[in-house]
Amino acid sequence: MCGIIGIVSDKQVESYLIDGLKRLEYRGYDSAGIATVNDHQIHRRRSAGKLGNLQALLQHEPIQGQIGIGHTRWATHGAANTENAHPHSSREVAVVHNGIIENFFDLKKQLQKKGHKFESDTDTEVIVHLITDYLHQGDQPLKAVQKTLTDLHGAFALAILFKDDPNTLIATRQGSPLVLGIKENELFVSSDAVAFAPWTQQVCYLEEGDLVVLSKEPKFNYVLYDRTGHKVERPLRRSQITGESVSKAEYSHYMLKEIFEQPTVLSDTLQSLLNFENQMITLKDVNIDWNTLDRIQIIACGTSYYAGLVAKYWFEKWAGIAVDVEIASEFRYRNPVLSPNSLSILISQSGETIDTLAALSLLKENEHQVLALVNVPESSIARKADHVLQTLAGPEIGVASTKAFTSQLMVLACLSLKIGRERGVIKPDTYDSLVQALVSLPGMISHVLQNSEDYQKLALSFTTARNCLYLGRGITYPIALEGALKLKEISYIHAEGYAAGELKHGPIALIDLTMPVVVLAPYDEWFEKTLSNLQEVIARGAQLLCLTDQKAAEKIKQQVKSVCQIEIVVLPFVDSFIEPILYTIPVQLLAYYIALLKGTDIDQPRNLAKSVTVE
Ligand code: AGP
Repeated sequence: MCGIIGIVSDKQVESYLIDGLKRLEYRGYDSAGIATVNDHQIHRRRSAGKLGNLQALLQHEPIQGQIGIGHTRWATHGAANTENAHPHSSREVAVVHNGIIENFFDLKKQLQKKGHKFESDTDTEVIVHLITDYLHQGDQPLKAVQKTLTDLHGAFALAILFKDDPNTLIATRQGSPLVLGIKENELFVSSDAVAFAPWTQQVCYLEEGDLVVLSKEPKFNYVLYDRTGHKVERPLRRSQITGESVSKAEYSHYMLKEIFEQPTVLSDTLQSLLNFENQMITLKDVNIDWNTLDRIQIIACGTSYYAGLVAKYWFEKWAGIAVDVEIASEFRYRNPVLSPNSLSILISQSGETIDTLAALSLLKENEHQVLALVNVPESSIARKADHVLQTLAGPEIGVASTKAFTSQLMVLACLSLKIGRERGVIKPDTYDSLVQALVSLPGMISHVLQNSEDYQKLALSFTTARNCLYLGRGITYPIALEGALKLKEISYIHAEGYAAGELKHGPIALIDLTMPVVVLAPYDEWFEKTLSNLQEVIARGAQLLCLTDQKAAEKIKQQVKSVCQIEIVVLPFVDSFIEPILYTIPVQLLAYYIALLKGTDIDQPRNLAKSVTVE
C-alpha cells in the first residue's frame, strides 16, 4: 500500500526521492508526490497516476532542497487524483502518511470550526492542520507532533517537514512499519528498507509508537523517542537487502525474475532447516513441544492462505495432527474456540498484513501460542509472535506472490516432517525418502523453467477468454486456487479454482466452448478420479489444458476420445508430497505469459497492493 520515503542529505534530494519511490512502486499506488524545504519555503509537486507523470511534472517544474519527503498513495479516503495525493501541506508543514486515521471525520469538523480550510478528501489532511495549529500556539515542531499524535486514532506511519526548521525531519510509526537508514552525511526513513537499499545497508527498525527526529545539523544525527516520549536507543542492523537484490536484472518483469529465482531460494530455505548429513530438520529458536499439541490453526490471507491449505494435507497425513485453516480477515469476527493445547501458525510474506496482525492480537489477548512464518524477519508479525520461522525468498517485488509462496511451502513441508518425526507418526524410511524428495525439488523446478517457452505458446489460446476454471484434487486442489488467483491478479481474466470433485455440484454449468479449463492431474492416488472429471469437461466442449506427468499423459491419451480438445504439458513425475510445489511453477508461468500477451501491468496490477496494511 502507500510508501513513504524521507531523506536528509548534503545533496539535492529531488532525484533521490524519485529513485526511492520507484523502489516502493511494488507496494501498489495510484498517485505520487514529493516535497522539500528550501529558502524557508515548502516546495511540493504531486501527480495522479504513475511516477512517470510526477517525473514529467518535475522536468518542467523542478524543486530544490537537501531535505525532503516522498509518497506513493494507494487511495482509501478520496479519489486517486492530484488533490488527494501526498504530501499534504499547509504553509508551515508537509506530511506524508501511510495508514488510516480512524477519527479524522470528528477532527476535521473541530478544525473547520476553528477556521481551518481543507483542500482534499483525505484523512491525512487533519494531521497537517493539527500540527499547524499547535505550531501556531507556540509549540516547537517536536512538541507539536507529539501533541498531534495523542489526538489521532488508527494505524499509521508519518514523515513530516517544517518550513521554519529546514534541518529537521520527524517520522513516527504506530501500526505501520518504518525503518531508518543511516549513512555518513545522509539519513533516510522509509516504509521499507528496499527504498534506500542502494545507498545504505545500515538500518534501525522503529518500534511501535517510536518517533525519530532526523537532523542535518549538527552532523546528520538522529534522536529516537519511545511511545512515552522518553529518549531511547534501538539496535542498528545490517539489512540483507542490497541494490542488486532489488534490481530486475535482465528480466522484463520482477515477477518473471522471481519465478526464475525459485530453485535458488527453495534450496536456500531448505538448507536453513535441514542438516544434510544426518537428514535432521532443525528449527532454530523454536521451542515447541509438538507432542502436547492436539490441534493447529493456520491463519493467513490470499496466497499465504493457500500455503496453509496445502500444509493441512501435509500435517494431517505426515504429522497426524488436526489442522484448521482460517482466512485472517474473518478470524476475529467469529468467537474462535481455542484449545489450550493448540498452536496457531500465522503465514505472511510481508509480515505486515493488517488482518493477519489483527488475528495475532486476538490470539495474544487470549494468551495463545503463535508461530509466525514470514519472509521479513523485522516485520510486525515476526516481532509479536512467540516463535518465528523465516522463508529465505529475498525481497519479493512483484505484487503477485511467487517465490515467497513456494518458499512458504518448503518451510511447511519441512515442518510437517519434523512434527511427524517427533510425534513418531512418520516411519524413518518414509521420512528419509520425503526429505530426499525435497532435496530433489530445486533441480526439478529448474527443469520445468527450462521449458518456459511452452507456456508462451499455450498462453495464446487464453487471451480471448473472459473466464477460466482451474481444477485440482487432493493436494493439488490448493494449487488450482493459487493458479486461478495468479491469473486474475495479473491478467484480469476472471478465474476460479475448484476441487475437481466439486465440479458436478455447480461450476459444471458454466462450462462451454468459451471457457478454458486448466486441470492439475499428476499420476497420484487421486488421478483416476480426476480423469473422470476431465472426461466430463471434454464432453461439454471445453478446451482443456492438462498439467500432468508422463504416465498420466499416456492414460489420458488412451482414454480420452477428443484429444484434439486437450493440450498436455508433461512435468517430471514426483512424489505426491512435493507435487504442490512443483505444480505451482506451471500455473505461475501460464498466468505470467497470458498477462504479457494482454499487455497488463504485471508487476503492479491495477488496484492491488503488495502488503495490505488497511482493513
Ligand atoms: C498474492 O499474489 C497476493 N498479492 C496476496 O493474495 C497476498 O498473498 C496476501 O495479500 C497476503 O499477503 P502476506 O503474505 O504478505 O500476508
